[in-house]
Amino acid sequence: MKGIILSGGHGSRLLPLTRVTSKQLLPVYDKPMIMYPLRALLNAGIKDILIIVAPDHAGDYLKLLGSGKEFGARFAYEVQDKPEGLAQAFIIGEHFIENDSVCMILGDNIFEDDITESLNSFSGGAKIFVKEVPKEDRTRLGIVEFGKDNKVISIEEKPQIPKSPFAQTGIYIYDSQVVEAAKAQKPSARGELEITDLNNWYLAKDQLQAEILKGEWIDAGTFESLFRAAELARKKATFRGL
Ligand code: DAU
Repeated sequence: MKGIILSGGHGSRLLPLTRVTSKQLLPVYDKPMIMYPLRALLNAGIKDILIIVAPDHAGDYLKLLGSGKEFGARFAYEVQDKPEGLAQAFIIGEHFIENDSVCMILGDNIFEDDITESLNSFSGGAKIFVKEVPKEDRTRLGIVEFGKDNKVISIEEKPQIPKSPFAQTGIYIYDSQVVEAAKAQKPSARGELEITDLNNWYLAKDQLQAEILKGEWIDAGTFESLFRAAELARKKATFRGL
């Protein structure tokens, strides 16, 4: 299993903090934000990791993380010229993925759960990780509706009328079909290759599974969530991946 950390984008919701640096390099308590999702992959035994960054701060990522040797891993880097969607990561990463399965994690997402078992039990198709979220957050996330036996019925990106309290979070596992699936997507109304469309591609083939996370999950992309992430990291060693 290979890993991808998607760490591009403009971070415009965090201006002026992101005027001179990348959002995912901002401090969360005792380390830069990206080191949390990195720790999640490393703790799960993933050693081959592609870090996808925006052009402006690519050198800073290399300076921070290097070759991966220090972490007992191997890091590769790619630049995403424009933030044209989460699913674009698999087109950018085509040669890195080859014929392997891949676990992608967003560079601003922090998870308390250890995903080792979920990775080990992955047997093909796609697996998403969901978490119940408060009402006010449901219209700004991908919402996952469950039917009988916890089977996923639908996933809707930022629905006006959410059908469930469960949001898809920023960790996704795919088999090697993912490159072909990403290439089959068309940009959405907001001009992006949507991860939700990619997941619906797997759902239509009845190859999508969803797992409910038990621990805390934070998308640290707003002032409030960034602050909360730092508080949680200070309070809970498990949130720091320790
Ligand atoms: O946080 C989980 C949510 O992430 C999911 O519930 C949604 O289904 C999924 O679409 C995504 O929603 P967001 O609207 O939060 O995605 P956002 O555009 O904020 O991008 C998430 C992170 O990925 C952000 O840190 C920037 C980075 N990114 C984003 C895009 C679009 C890239 O590196 N490249 C990109 O092209």
